[in-house]
Amino acid sequence: QTINWDPIAAEKGEYRHFMQKEIHEQVRSLTDTLAGRVDFDKGLIQLPQLKLTAETARKINKIIITACGTAQHAGLVGKIYIEKIARIPVEVDIASEFRYRDPIIQPGTVVLSISQSGETADTLAAMEEGRQKGAILWSIVNAIGSQAMRVADGYISMQVGPEIGVASTKAFTAPLVDLYMLAVLLADLRGTLPVEQRKKLVNDLRMIPDLAGKCLEHEPEVMSIARDMKDARDALYLGRGINMPIAYEGALKLKEISYIHAEGYPAGEMKHGPIALIDKDMPVIALAPNDPWYEKMASQIEQAKARGGKVIAVATEGDKNVEHLADSCLWVPSIPWMLSPVLTVIPLQMLAYHIASIRGLDVDQPRNLAKSVTVE
Ligand code: G6P
Repeated sequence: QTINWDPIAAEKGEYRHFMQKEIHEQVRSLTDTLAGRVDFDKGLIQLPQLKLTAETARKINKIIITACGTAQHAGLVGKIYIEKIARIPVEVDIASEFRYRDPIIQPGTVVLSISQSGETADTLAAMEEGRQKGAILWSIVNAIGSQAMRVADGYISMQVGPEIGVASTKAFTAPLVDLYMLAVLLADLRGTLPVEQRKKLVNDLRMIPDLAGKCLEHEPEVMSIARDMKDARDALYLGRGINMPIAYEGALKLKEISYIHAEGYPAGEMKHGPIALIDKDMPVIALAPNDPWYEKMASQIEQAKARGGKVIAVATEGDKNVEHLADSCLWVPSIPWMLSPVLTVIPLQMLAYHIASIRGLDVDQPRNLAKSVTVE
């Protein structure tokens, strides 16, 4: 008897696609992201490869995050972390725009790139632009030894292992946590973070891997919503505040692999255009976890419903109010609001995956897309 040994298929283990495997690997990758960096007893963060001293931390007056695709969405969440925790102004720029815009970089400006591959042409060119103008160059990178890691003055390496699926998943949630840790470290080194607050922020990280696992347990319900949504032509993802970038990311996941047109929108902007699109045929995915924008999102759901829209809400387990307002819910466990994007994106990754999978599409190799875009 011979065994057909396909090493690639073998690596997928029990999963049909790498993307599904990588979604499920997030409990592990988030555990590894914290390992060795977080001292829960002392409430301290260490990111030694960033080579960040208190002197440098105090000198920083602006951080420009630059990236492409999914990595840029992580940067949008990072802006909120760094501004809220470290009170340093942050701009987030799409790398292909930044590189040609003659950006303003002064002494004390950091250019921070985020890249899974570390080889995306536009992101590297943005770093080069930063270098030419005298910025401090940092990167958050997955691929060890990649260009974005080598040219940076300091880096944070994502601890997620190889990511094969073109649609990025575990290399999205890890940099969220990296950026949160960076914000805490910056604030601590600048002497602006009271010890008790620092300990609380650090301690909140402890529950992340387990809660990611709880999100994955809801996969059967996600599959049933995926079956309902599989024939949609368009979808609108709405979010606000810290979960606004998750609306972008959820929409990107859906269009990348299922070829359904999807738009992510800041929910407050709905009345300035997208509301005209809402009808019974266009599902509205509303991010309404327990965060400071919750009440606003609840009223947004009501408005979408009033126009005949079909609303699928990402909501906190046990939230009877949203359960009542929306047509169906994708549940995430309760978590301090700043870390909520790490969880709210997981059902949206699974939703996109299952819709594409039901449609019989090549999830890991979607048409026209490359895992890493190394040319302009
Ligand atoms: C491609 C991939 C995306 C990815 C983007 C940035 O477009 O298909 O999934 O987000 O590149 O890649 P990077 O390696 O720089 O994170």
